[in-house]
Amino acid sequence: MGQIPVPKPYIREFEKLGYGMFIHWGLYSQLAQGEWVMKLRKIPKEEYSLLQNTFTAEHFDGREIARLAKRAGMKYIVLTARHHDGFSLYDTRGLSDYDSMHSPAARDLMADFAAGCRAEGIVPFFYHTTLDWYVDSYREDFEAYLRYLQQSVEILCTEYGKIGGMWFDGNWDKPDADWQEDALYGMIRRNQPEAIIVNNSGLHKLGVYGHPEIDSVTFEQGRPHPMDRRGKPKYVAAEMCQTMGAYWGYSGADFAFKSTKELIEHLCACRKVGANYLLNIGLTGTGRVAKLQEAMLETIGDWLRVFGQAIYTTAPCGIAGSGSDFGLAGEDGKLYFFVHQLAVSGDWNVTVPSGGVGPRTFTGVRRTIRSIRWMDNGEELSFVHDPAKDLFSFQATGYPYGEDYVVRVAEAVTED
Ligand code: GLC
Repeated sequence: MGQIPVPKPYIREFEKLGYGMFIHWGLYSQLAQGEWVMKLRKIPKEEYSLLQNTFTAEHFDGREIARLAKRAGMKYIVLTARHHDGFSLYDTRGLSDYDSMHSPAARDLMADFAAGCRAEGIVPFFYHTTLDWYVDSYREDFEAYLRYLQQSVEILCTEYGKIGGMWFDGNWDKPDADWQEDALYGMIRRNQPEAIIVNNSGLHKLGVYGHPEIDSVTFEQGRPHPMDRRGKPKYVAAEMCQTMGAYWGYSGADFAFKSTKELIEHLCACRKVGANYLLNIGLTGTGRVAKLQEAMLETIGDWLRVFGQAIYTTAPCGIAGSGSDFGLAGEDGKLYFFVHQLAVSGDWNVTVPSGGVGPRTFTGVRRTIRSIRWMDNGEELSFVHDPAKDLFSFQATGYPYGEDYVVRVAEAVTED
């Protein structure tokens, strides 16, 4: 069995961020066909790299994006400093000409991003590819490539102030190679002792532990399962990243957007198991946020203005309900009960019930409950608690006509 390790403070801080924005943006955004367009449409490197000459970044404003993240209730942003196409959004300081300094943008976009985040109280994280479709050394001289990679990352860890973390992606491309992770992560620890280190395990290896320095596992496009941390040498956080539509990078022909309902359900499902939710947007070629994505983020932000308290500082505590329902413990001594599929109360001629109004029952409530109320309108709810049978039940009243929060949260004040 074994003990569950105690999280290091910076890892606990990361868990408390809870909800973040992922941004995919690069040369590919100009083609508006997703971030893998170079590879999957077999565009020769010589042709693809011409996109550098038209990359103006004229609408990119780190502060504006950080403001949007704030309105959306997000606490951190992960931006692609360099994606698989090998183009850097930062000043590589002589390492390569294939960066934003050598494009019409002629500025360090990661610097603008980091400063914008800090001004708005948002924590900046840097995504960095580990595989590379651009430099020959990746295929021809892996040792030399790893030096280039490490020097690139070192710039990001030394020239931009304190960062929230480094988010790597691409080791899955050469699963048997020696990526010299000790050296890379060691360098990060020296320069950014409290940076969260992530290395995406990929679509087919959800929640898989990696190198011991890694601070969070990833669930790419997949709902996180509860983490079994018993007997592990270190407490590792969890994060689910997800696209809003079908692609990470901007697509002009993506009609596969999820609904705000689904996104709110995903956010709650992540928090149910204590995982963070990293929701992606793809900026347009010039660095604008697409209108639909902005509107969706703001709508979820409205939900969080009502229920945020139940999302950010809470942690799983073994409270389970039926269906998707669950409970979390807050740092404030309160318990939060998440109720799904609640009906709108009203006249059956106008409202269609989507789920049950009535008692919702939970197990695992170990504290004495004093009172419980909906967070949105403060309505007090009646409840019964039978600790001997391990049952806690409260009367979930329906949404007032005109409202539907998808997931409604009740907060309970406890005696201890
Ligand atoms: C995948 C893709 C990549 C994307 C990443 C985000 O690994 O290769 O395009 O950036 O997932 O999690």
